[in-house]
Amino acid sequence: MTLSVSATDQASGSNMYHDATGSPLFVNDRDNGEKLYTSKGCVECHGPRGYSADVNMVPKIAGMDRQYVIDQLLAFQSGKRQNVIMSPMAATLTSDDILALATFISSVHK
Ligand code: HEC
Repeated sequence: MTLSVSATDQASGSNMYHDATGSPLFVNDRDNGEKLYTSKGCVECHGPRGYSADVNMVPKIAGMDRQYVIDQLLAFQSGKRQNVIMSPMAATLTSDDILALATFISSVHK
């Protein structure tokens, strides 16, 4: 399954941020993602803005490609990718949450 922003969403967004590949991101999505990153607890393991505090245990996700982040979160949800920590984390996310989180994470400079 592939999630991506529809043409209509893109048309109504403004382009202040860019992901790792230079594609424009949308401010509302990004700001929601930053809030979710804290409220969903991602920050506790992946660290402020995605720079993980413990690089041995938790991957650094800051600046990862947006579509890659979306694909990984969907894979954890579907069980295609399994991890004792991330599978239950991903299970709590809606599709909108995933899009917003991926927009935020990919907007952070590596
Ligand atoms: C309790 C600690 C913990 C929390 C909370 C957590 N993660 Fe993770 N995350 C991990 C670990 C550990 C891995 C590595 C999993 C693996 O090896 O497959 C990971 C992997 C990932 C990956 C894949 C990275 C890659 O290199 O493929 C993404 C994306 C991700 N997390 C995003 C999130 C998001 C978004 C949240 C909040 C909804 C979150 N994580 C919450 C520990 C955590």
